[in-house]
Amino acid sequence: MLWLKAFHIVAVVTWFAGLLYLPRLFVYHAEATEPVVRERFKVMERRLLVMTHIGAALTFIFGMATLTWWLMHVPGYMKLNYWLHAKLVLVFLLYGYHGYLVRLTREFAEDRCRRSSRWLRIFNEVPALLLIGIVILVVVQPFKGVG
Ligand code: HEM
Repeated sequence: MLWLKAFHIVAVVTWFAGLLYLPRLFVYHAEATEPVVRERFKVMERRLLVMTHIGAALTFIFGMATLTWWLMHVPGYMKLNYWLHAKLVLVFLLYGYHGYLVRLTREFAEDRCRRSSRWLRIFNEVPALLLIGIVILVVVQPFKGVG
């Protein structure tokens, strides 16, 4: 299980590299005016999105594998760990955010993203907030044994 958890964390870090940096690239892309610079951003965004997909898939695979291990070895694991329910809600929001990044990458690739750089800067903060929430839940494990 510790091996699964280790790879789960490596996958999370890989995923977050994209979740934090891709929207930052969108900010610079939205502010760029030179066509050659905008084309370069498109290539960077497309490549970073591929890495972000890989991180998301591996996070899911190793997260589920870790969860399956606990469910097989500790009866009532889900009832003992309500923090995990809250974590999974935040993780679900993170996958929604990821889906929106796919949409924005496509819009930028086709030069039809009309979001202001201010909107994109605020949007860029969302994964950091979710990260703080998830890490507090997995480390502090509030509501443990409640219910
Ligand atoms: C499909 C999504 C996910 C599932 C099913 C999942 C499930 C799990 C499970 C079952 C554990 C083991 C808990 C324990 O040992 O008591 C774990 C550990 C952990 N997860 Fe996830 N997770 C997912 C996504 C994430 C995400 C997105 C993050 C970070 C943003 C994350 C961060 C962590 C960390 C840091 C640990 C280690 C906690 C520790 O032992 O101190 N997980 N995860």
